[in-house]
Amino acid sequence: MSMIKTAAELEAWCRSVDRRNKTLGFVPTMGYLHEGHCSLIKAAKSQNGLVVASVFVNPTQFAPGEDFESYPRDIGRDYKLAREAGADVVFNPEVGEIYVPGSSTVIEVTGNITKKLCGASRPTHFEGVTTIVSILFNIVRPDNAYFGQKDAQQALIIKKMVRDLHIPVEVIVCPIVREMDGLAMSSRNVYLNPEERKQATCLNVGLQKAAEYLASGAVDCRSVTRLTEIIESHIHSRDLAVIDYVKILDGETLDDITAIEPGKTALAAVAVKFGKTRLIDNRVLSI
Ligand code: PAJ
Repeated sequence: MSMIKTAAELEAWCRSVDRRNKTLGFVPTMGYLHEGHCSLIKAAKSQNGLVVASVFVNPTQFAPGEDFESYPRDIGRDYKLAREAGADVVFNPEVGEIYVPGSSTVIEVTGNITKKLCGASRPTHFEGVTTIVSILFNIVRPDNAYFGQKDAQQALIIKKMVRDLHIPVEVIVCPIVREMDGLAMSSRNVYLNPEERKQATCLNVGLQKAAEYLASGAVDCRSVTRLTEIIESHIHSRDLAVIDYVKILDGETLDDITAIEPGKTALAAVAVKFGKTRLIDNRVLSI
């Protein structure tokens, strides 16, 4: 396996490998890999002859004051984990390689899908994500690209961008990988102190309680107001948790809904702060 730092080297690698009868799978990441990332690389390996994983902490998706500088980085460890999971190449470019001098083009998906949930609290975030993912797609030119359901809104937005712009790539969304106690794996979990880490399971438990109430058949079990209350009250029971949002929206469009409708999916999504650390989690609800 090789580590590649420039677009030109990556293009040369693509020309050098025999791509006949081999599809190219691509897993974009910001590094500090954990089992969630590795599950995407393994899925890519199982479905493609060749796999490229990128490690690039993308400055344009962080707002001023967010954790771009302090975002955890360990490229040596990432290289090893990506190789073990089945990547053929780790693409680890410098910022100046990706955003060429004078670069002033952005890719923006408009509408509810980018304005709700994390788009409301991080208004410039998704424009940064869609811009970097487009640039990486253009450099890597994969057949299949793998994203995690952990970032459900991001996955919906990327799928929409690919459809709207006719980008010739198949987007595959893989399930959330969790710690033993149910906390969704995240590179940011390392910021949590031991007490915050203990309380952080409340995101998953709150979502689970809503799913259980929906399945209970109680008279108001499909009510979005009731289900939202269930999640909020569980998270509020943890004294270090500060809710950014708890929302249940249409699972495809992220439009507002008032009830879970049979045959339709809803997305229950939460963002909660523990000190300076903002965690997200979600669960698809359906009946
Ligand atoms: P990053 O947070 O590093 O995540 C890279 C990919 O791993 C994303 O598709 C994310 O949804 C997935 N992932 C993270 N935690 C996961 C978990 N616990 N289970 C399953 N998948 C998980 O998301 C980004 O980077 C960036 O926004 C990026 C798409 C790379 C653009 O910069």
